[in-house]
Amino acid sequence: MPIIKGFSKLSRSQKTAWLREQLALSEDFESTLAEFRHPARQATFDDFSENTLTNYLLPFGVAPNFLINDQLYVVPMVIEESSVVAAASRAASFWAQNGGFQTRVKDLKKTGHLWFEWDGAAEQLLPLEEQLMAFLREALKDLTASMETRGGGLQHLQILPQEELPGVYQLLLEFYTGDSMGANFINSCLEAAKEPLNRFLEQKGLPTAQPLMAILSNHTPDCTVTCKVSCKVEDLAPYAGGLTAGDFARKFKLAVDVARLNTHRAVTHNKGIYNGIDAVVLATGNDFRAVEAAGHAFAARDGHYRSLSECEVADGRFSFWLTVPLALGTVGGLTRLHPMAQRAMELLGQPKAAELMQVAAAVGLANNFGAVASLVTTGIQKGHMKLHLSNMLTALGASEAEKEAARAWFSDKTVSQQALRDFLESRSK
Ligand code: MEV
Repeated sequence: MPIIKGFSKLSRSQKTAWLREQLALSEDFESTLAEFRHPARQATFDDFSENTLTNYLLPFGVAPNFLINDQLYVVPMVIEESSVVAAASRAASFWAQNGGFQTRVKDLKKTGHLWFEWDGAAEQLLPLEEQLMAFLREALKDLTASMETRGGGLQHLQILPQEELPGVYQLLLEFYTGDSMGANFINSCLEAAKEPLNRFLEQKGLPTAQPLMAILSNHTPDCTVTCKVSCKVEDLAPYAGGLTAGDFARKFKLAVDVARLNTHRAVTHNKGIYNGIDAVVLATGNDFRAVEAAGHAFAARDGHYRSLSECEVADGRFSFWLTVPLALGTVGGLTRLHPMAQRAMELLGQPKAAELMQVAAAVGLANNFGAVASLVTTGIQKGHMKLHLSNMLTALGASEAEKEAARAWFSDKTVSQQALRDFLESRSK
């Protein structure tokens, strides 16, 4: 295949024609693309990205019965993995009857950096933080004025030499971004700070700086939410499988402790948390890559990657909680542009950013609870394979009638690929 120049300038049909010429595409490649194009809103989706050929659909579902700080929510979730919405819904119902999720947002602070090279003497620059802050506030006021009316804006500034890289400095700026995630606002402010930084240095008779890069930090260790559930150990009986509630609670806590201590387990444990969080983040048009990156850095904040959740069993009570960074927005960006993100916000009652953080954390904890509960009792495959049954049957080319028969047959049996093949074969004889 040759390297192509100007691919983005081609029309959609020219793009697909080129792909067809170059790649051994299936007969129905183009008709499938056409089928998934939106009849009325394709222009909206085309604007989100580049070289758009069609849309990629994922299921948009809901998990009802989330009782969070005494308020009930129906939570929208976008996820392709079977059993995640079911597990979140089951845990939500259980905890709604056992006190619900208690959540608290620590702060909404976000940071960004203007990195620069500077060959002056650090001791002349570092005492100027306060003056530089006042200077930048004034210089950036056109950019920050509207955010300030929404309670946000530039809050704090530090100048930090990067010790391991002589002559490299970080201008660390702290922001509040109201109910927006704030990436564009922060990046605009940081980029606009380059020129006034040098004007300031010149005014002080200091050498000017060579800007290196200006970008927000997705590490948001202060923009966190803590979410907790707690009940009497005996009330855990519905989740205990064949165990006593006491044994279940002990094993559950042990499993969480393993994930606190063992990185290999912690990664999978936290993946179970992000099954829930990402589904809410995607449904509401937020940036799941930023959320994941922040969460995993936070999980490793003491130098050892650990589980984000913790468990305690004491005095007959079971408590399970999670602290997670969640830089989410409920205004601006895709949250307002994607028609389904708008509907997701509507289902949640048009939440503020802090409220959405609490909902996402609760869903993360619910999925984590469901996963660990399954792992220490039946294992996850029993429930997972049942819910995955339809997908497996579709992959095996089963008809609707065969699917229905298979669902009935496997309702009390273990599902496996081979068992399904055998079942379909036995019916075709
Ligand atoms: C699967 O998507 C998630 C789990 O692996 C999480 C966990 O192991 O805790 C079940």
